[in-house]
Amino acid sequence: MARRTDEPLVLGIETSCDETGVGIVRGHTLLADAVASSVDEHARFGGVVPEVASRAHLEAMVPTIQRALKDAGVSAKDLDGIAVTAGPGLAGALLVGVSAAKAYAYALGKPLYGVNHLASHICVDQLEHGALPEPTMALLVSGGHSSLLLAPDITADVRPLGSTIDDAAGEAFDKIARVLNLGFPGGPVIDRYAREGDPDAIRFPRGLTGPRDPIYDFSFSGLKTAVARWIEAKRAAGENVPVADVAASFQEAVVDVLTRKAVRACKDHGVDHLMIGGGVAANTRLRAMAERRCEDAGITLRVPRPKLCTDNGAMVAALGAEMVARGRASSSWDLSADSSLPVTESHVPGHGDGHGHGHGHGHGHDHDHFHELSKDNLYS
Ligand SMILES: Nc1ncnc2c1ncn2[C@@H]1O[C@H](COP(=O)(O)OP(=O)(O)OP(=O)(O)O)[C@@H](O)[C@H]1O
Ligand SMILES: [Mg+2]
Repeated sequence: MARRTDEPLVLGIETSCDETGVGIVRGHTLLADAVASSVDEHARFGGVVPEVASRAHLEAMVPTIQRALKDAGVSAKDLDGIAVTAGPGLAGALLVGVSAAKAYAYALGKPLYGVNHLASHICVDQLEHGALPEPTMALLVSGGHSSLLLAPDITADVRPLGSTIDDAAGEAFDKIARVLNLGFPGGPVIDRYAREGDPDAIRFPRGLTGPRDPIYDFSFSGLKTAVARWIEAKRAAGENVPVADVAASFQEAVVDVLTRKAVRACKDHGVDHLMIGGGVAANTRLRAMAERRCEDAGITLRVPRPKLCTDNGAMVAALGAEMVARGRASSSWDLSADSSLPVTESHVPGHGDGHGHGHGHGHGHDHDHFHELSKDNLYS
């Protein structure tokens, strides 16, 4: 395949949680997706320990960047920009990525793009299915978030329609796995057990699906409690807990609500595409049920391959490349990590100090940017 060199070549760095991800893309083409995970180091604690994650990012950063460059077969000097997750996520973990991105961008004289982790989870689908339709309806389901988002422009205009009022979907999977003693993270293992179980064995509650409930919001805390109580009752009665049936029935309740509300949002807003992103989008039952319900409703479903659903650097590079392609302002050098960056802020541009100006792709601005910065820092 002829290589398109007119599309932006961007390296993306992701460190918001426990994966150190470095991806390289050219426009919508994935060239490298290197991930180093510290998940094994957290497993014995049953959740991610922020300090352990930060230290692991620090150790993995340079080797992972080198591996990505080697895999992509590109030289760092040819990059058109460096993108990094500026938030939301764990503050200390984000800081490692932001610091590394700044160091590389500064040393190489490349524009820096601090981008939103959640918008990246959506934008990654451009690597799989090409340009996102505008607007895109996205169901974002991950370890920390469950939201329905309407995005007329993924680089600049993302509108939340609804979100969870308590636990995120992934968090519910992790908690139920813990109650069942299945280890951490819970999503993949519950997904596996559920394949052997009966999804209709136990009728668990569907949160916020009553006629007076908010249409696009989610709640998984009541479900979590119901499942935990059901398991406790079995144990108290000295009976065996049918793990596969519990996993399948719990998963069914989550997936039923997610897909029902997502399809409803598409219909209400006249959007004929649904994108599902975030770690829980790797769930096989969610993918199957969404496929069926979307087909019934005449909606085209877009879900990236599982590896691109969980945290990775390619998704950050994908959003960075879109920022470059659209001439969005690059970030200023005082870019900081924002652990609670709102989903409405796709990227974190400059603070009006003259550095965060737009960089049209291919116009040779990289060096100007570098010079301005050097001058300011050295002489002012
Ligand atoms: N096959 C699966 N089925 C269900 N859940 C899954 C599956 N695979 C992963 N998950 C869940 O996805 C979550 C991790 O996803 P992701 O990496 O996007 O989350 P995060 O980065 O921790 O959170 P956020 O993106 O909100 O900051 C975990 O809760 C995990 O249990
Ligand atoms: Mg994530």
